[in-house]
Amino acid sequence: MSSTKKVAVIVGSLRAESKTRALAKAIIAEAPAGLEFEFAEIGDLALYNEDLETDTPPAPWTRFRNQIGDVDAVLFVTPEYNRSVPAALKNAIDVGSRPYGKAVFSGKPAAVVTASPGGVGGFGANHHLRQSLVFLDMPVLQQPEAYIGGLWEMFDDEGNVKSEGTRKFLGSIATAFAALIAKNA
Ligand code: FNR
Repeated sequence: MSSTKKVAVIVGSLRAESKTRALAKAIIAEAPAGLEFEFAEIGDLALYNEDLETDTPPAPWTRFRNQIGDVDAVLFVTPEYNRSVPAALKNAIDVGSRPYGKAVFSGKPAAVVTASPGGVGGFGANHHLRQSLVFLDMPVLQQPEAYIGGLWEMFDDEGNVKSEGTRKFLGSIATAFAALIAKNA
């Protein structure tokens, strides 16, 4: 049996040139061996509505639920919108949390990385997201905390993280997350 662990990466920004998505890629680049990452896309998930929770729910809901159900862990990388979680990300959490009793997130280790062009690093979004993950019974990486400021200055023209210190910090997040995943395997 392979010891490789599959990690779904959910990015809270939908825009094509998202700096947060670039940050997610930078974390992946610094991750230790033994983790396999795949992006779980959330932009096409219909707004959660219990009326759609039939025997044939929207196909993107089913795709998303199957994908999350199939991984060992989930890495959330998100900007902050109005001091909270972007609606698209909250919607994805709601979609994955239902039908009742069948939440695909349940028990899967998670890590939360928030980012902002400002200095506060998405602290509000980070902890609002953690509140939902408690309810979903996901063991969440506690340290290092990841409130990444200066998002718009972080990358060079090729999309590489300019600061070696930042690269090392991103690597330390991925390494600690790998340990949490192994502990919960
Ligand atoms: C923002 N932004 C923002 N930033 C922040 O630090 N705290 C906040 O509360 C908000 N609120 C907010 C609301 C909305 C609706 C938007 C569109 C933006 C700015 C945000 O951090 C910035 O646009 C990031 O660059 C978004 O990430 P991506 O799209 O580059 O990944």
